[in-house]
Amino acid sequence: MRLSGKTAIVTGAARGIGYHISKRFAEEGCSVVMADLSVEGEEASRQLSEAGANVFYYRADVSKNDSVEGLVSFTLEKFGKVDILVNNAAINIPGSILELSEELWDRTYEVNVKSMFLMSRAVVPAMLAGGGGAIVNLGSANSYVAEPRLAAYVSSKGAILMLSKAMALDFAQDNIRVNCICPGWVDTTFNDRHAELFGGSAEVLKNIRDIHPIGRTIQPVEIANAALFLASEEASAITGAGLLVDGGYTIK
Ligand SMILES: NC(=O)c1ccc[n+]([C@@H]2O[C@H](COP(=O)([O-])OP(=O)(O)OC[C@H]3O[C@@H](n4cnc5c(N)ncnc54)[C@H](O)[C@@H]3O)[C@@H](O)[C@H]2O)c1
Repeated sequence: MRLSGKTAIVTGAARGIGYHISKRFAEEGCSVVMADLSVEGEEASRQLSEAGANVFYYRADVSKNDSVEGLVSFTLEKFGKVDILVNNAAINIPGSILELSEELWDRTYEVNVKSMFLMSRAVVPAMLAGGGGAIVNLGSANSYVAEPRLAAYVSSKGAILMLSKAMALDFAQDNIRVNCICPGWVDTTFNDRHAELFGGSAEVLKNIRDIHPIGRTIQPVEIANAALFLASEEASAITGAGLLVDGGYTIK
């Protein structure tokens, strides 16, 4: 039980990577508040609870401060502390700068970047009061390398890597570690809209070896395992790191 007695908030937990992080954390003894804008989260958390996990769904739009404060208050009322925050929620709106509206650009930055500022700002005081904590932010291989017709998303993920480093520096002496996981292509529906611009996911993945030298896509649980490591005491000397979990995508 690598997270025994710990309490975590995972954002974007209704499905995909956030769901698997919540499940993996719960398997290791962590109590988890699964936050998501989507009501799918209710059913997802119910299924995990029935399997014995100590998880709770909270509906939140993490790009809005009122919603964020409600989520953190709910967690503190229930558990009295927050040891781990996983900032995972994001959206992926494709397009070059000529294809994106100002509204879609702003929404990308509100959900992908501002949410991490709002969530961390709300949680860090509780971590300071509790003597420390771990924050894991979801970046992307796109925190390091760009892709065509994905300008808002790619640049938001670059910002997340540097925000993680800035926060790591500011709280290093308070026993709060902040790290950034940077996945390659993970098997969720997240990339579908972008892939449609290039003939669809099946077409793009025909040449998966050109994208990922390991020759396959990544399973959400493989990202969850990286999050578990970074959130646990096993990573006690790791802060400000960008951890690529990308099947070798960025090697060349
Ligand atoms: N899937 C990939 O290939 C991939 C690759 C690199 C990085 N990532 C990153 O991993 C994270 C999770 O991606 P995923 O593949 O699981 O995506 P997903 O679309 O399956 O899940 C994202 C979740 O975030 C929620 N969400 C969106 N906006 C929200 C908001 N404003 N407030 C609260 N919840 C909100 C959605 O409802 C959804 O449940 C993202 O940060 C993404 O950028 C994914």
